[in-house]
Amino acid sequence: MTTPSPALPPAVRDRVRSLAAEELPAYVYDLPALRAHLAEVRAALPARVELYYAAKANPEPELLAALRPYVDGYEVSSGGELAHVGKAVPDAPLAFGGPGKTPAEIVRALEIGVARFHVESVYELHMLASLAARHVPERRIAVLARFNLPVDDGSLDGSSLAMGGRPTPFGLDPDQADEVVTLLTDGRYPQLELRGIHAHLASGLAAPEQLAVSEAVVAWAAALAERHRVALSEVTIGGGMAVDYAAPEQRFDWAAFGAGLDRLAAAHPGLTLRIEPGRALTAYCGWYATEVLDVKHSHGEEFAVVRGGTHHLRTPATKGHDQPCTVVESDAPWPHPWPRSAARGGLVTVTGQLCTPKDVLARAVPAPGLRAGDRLVFGVAGAYAWNISHHDFLMHPRPGFHFLDAAEPGAEGTG
Ligand SMILES: Cc1ncc(COP(=O)(O)O)c(C=O)c1O
Repeated sequence: MTTPSPALPPAVRDRVRSLAAEELPAYVYDLPALRAHLAEVRAALPARVELYYAAKANPEPELLAALRPYVDGYEVSSGGELAHVGKAVPDAPLAFGGPGKTPAEIVRALEIGVARFHVESVYELHMLASLAARHVPERRIAVLARFNLPVDDGSLDGSSLAMGGRPTPFGLDPDQADEVVTLLTDGRYPQLELRGIHAHLASGLAAPEQLAVSEAVVAWAAALAERHRVALSEVTIGGGMAVDYAAPEQRFDWAAFGAGLDRLAAAHPGLTLRIEPGRALTAYCGWYATEVLDVKHSHGEEFAVVRGGTHHLRTPATKGHDQPCTVVESDAPWPHPWPRSAARGGLVTVTGQLCTPKDVLARAVPAPGLRAGDRLVFGVAGAYAWNISHHDFLMHPRPGFHFLDAAEPGAEGTG
């Protein structure tokens, strides 16, 4: 299979062409495309479904701000994200999740007044109650208990990364459900209000599987509420909506998912459903552009070595895929007295500047005649890309950052 070659939006192509070689690599974020995508996602979701953005996917402040009109809030998973997102979008509701919260992080979250705490363990529940009593005794704290629920119908089987339904450090075990509901409702911790259940069970689920998981989580929460005769008014289903890097033109079916959630919401009047995707919201708006430094032939294969590499764009290394990639040929005359290196065949493996054979961005890139000085632009690079990369390995320079923003002339910038 060859690496897909996504269609480059003209504004991204123009920006990539306008940059000098020394200004590469560069991340180019297409904010109008992000807004258009979010408008479609929002329109596909029923009014009773709240949309939070999982900031861990990409916390660039420009992206957080561009998302604001389309999302109900942001999910943050550390004290760092809490402070950062709180500053970038000061008015936005925050849900604070993640395992291993420290007392200092919890106190900060209480002081800021986060909208929801996603409690990951019984230990954390006791700690939250104690810190709330000490630091914000006048306030009620809305809690969602995160559970690692089994899903028996096979809907997690196709996921790229399962966080639930098997032993993991995430969330509470289902056999602790009765203890947790009792702790939160028997009057011992009057400051904590059990609003509902949270589950984030897997990454990379297509719409039918995501819907099946959502139905299973809601059914489990409803049965728990019934058993304890308590009202649970919220269920957060998590993120994990699939992004197909092998077929970037085919996106998660938000319309089908939204229609399914509509049916689910209708069957549970009074219940607020919430989702918190990251990857499927921002992946498509990000592009990583670079220059071919050299083209080499090794044991019958061709390699294009580019400026940068997986220390800037770690996604293909972590997920084991080929990053979709498009060639932008250089039309500048070759400026050097030595011969220009070029591919002889049609398929090229694209590697970076790191001294490790793992520094591969894409294999089997259809690039007949690719030459040193040509540019390559990697798509689907707007989520879990720069922010999860090991930037300092080998001490190469950092990329530039460009935020294309047709909505705000003059706001285009490099970061
Ligand atoms: C609790 C939680 N919510 C949401 C997400 C976002 O997932 P995704 O980016 O796959 O949509 C994650 C990702 O790890 C997560 O752990």
